[in-house]
Amino acid sequence: MAKDKNEARVLIPPVHVGVIMDGNGRWAKKRGMPRKFGHRAGAKTFRRIVRHAKHIGIKYITFYAFSTENWKRSEDEVNALMKLFEKNLDDLDELFEENVRIRFIGDRTKLSYSLRKRMEQSERESLNNTAMTLVIAINYGGRDEITNAVRTIAQDVRDGKLDPADVSEELIQSRLYTEEMPPVDLIIRPSGELRLSNFMIWQAAYAEYYFTDILWPDFSNKDLEKAVEVYCERNRRFGGV
Ligand code: IPE
Ligand code: IPE
Ligand code: MG
Repeated sequence: MAKDKNEARVLIPPVHVGVIMDGNGRWAKKRGMPRKFGHRAGAKTFRRIVRHAKHIGIKYITFYAFSTENWKRSEDEVNALMKLFEKNLDDLDELFEENVRIRFIGDRTKLSYSLRKRMEQSERESLNNTAMTLVIAINYGGRDEITNAVRTIAQDVRDGKLDPADVSEELIQSRLYTEEMPPVDLIIRPSGELRLSNFMIWQAAYAEYYFTDILWPDFSNKDLEKAVEVYCERNRRFGGV
């Protein structure tokens, strides 16, 4: 039912925003350039959007940078992406001064030693920052995350540390990469694709979605604001009335 225009609305901004950075390849193709070129442009957009998210008061923002399925791409493209992640981390150091905490989610074991070290260093140096938590999902898959959580629980049961009756939603949540992070409120996916592609499948159980045809490199600060505005108009019921 349409809302009364005069109805007073309480605008509660999203605490945790997830962004599926998609469309880099198509953006490059439209310009007759290699896919790598699109990824570089996408990385620039990422750095801008991180700052704008902090500016508008978002507390947690998670960017999907590389999925557990993205290894299917050419070696050339995968290598270019990995190099770009490492380079981006150097640029992100400036954010530490702005009180931003950096965290990574995903299976790190398949990443290069140098990238892993660099990730750990960023996490360590920004550990006590409180203005915003920037989460980057690299070699992340929601199914992989849940599978790992279940494996640690099974191990604890076998070791006699846990009783199967103690397995609760809270326990599973505590074994995910996102541990104590709040659930995702809003998921933004540019590029016209209407799917999660294995992103935060547990955490997004009650998320709101914002889809746009804009390709990620063209995603503007205004687009982020628009997504937040649209989110604020939604009526979240969580199964209630
Ligand atoms: C997203 O852009 C970046 C990654 C998945 C790493 P794509 O590379 O998927 O771009 P399209 O979807 O091919 O345009
Ligand atoms: C999702 O995009 C993964 C990231 C943005 C990192 P993809 O381009 O890999 O997703 P599909 O293949 O279109 O579902
Ligand atoms: Mg894509």
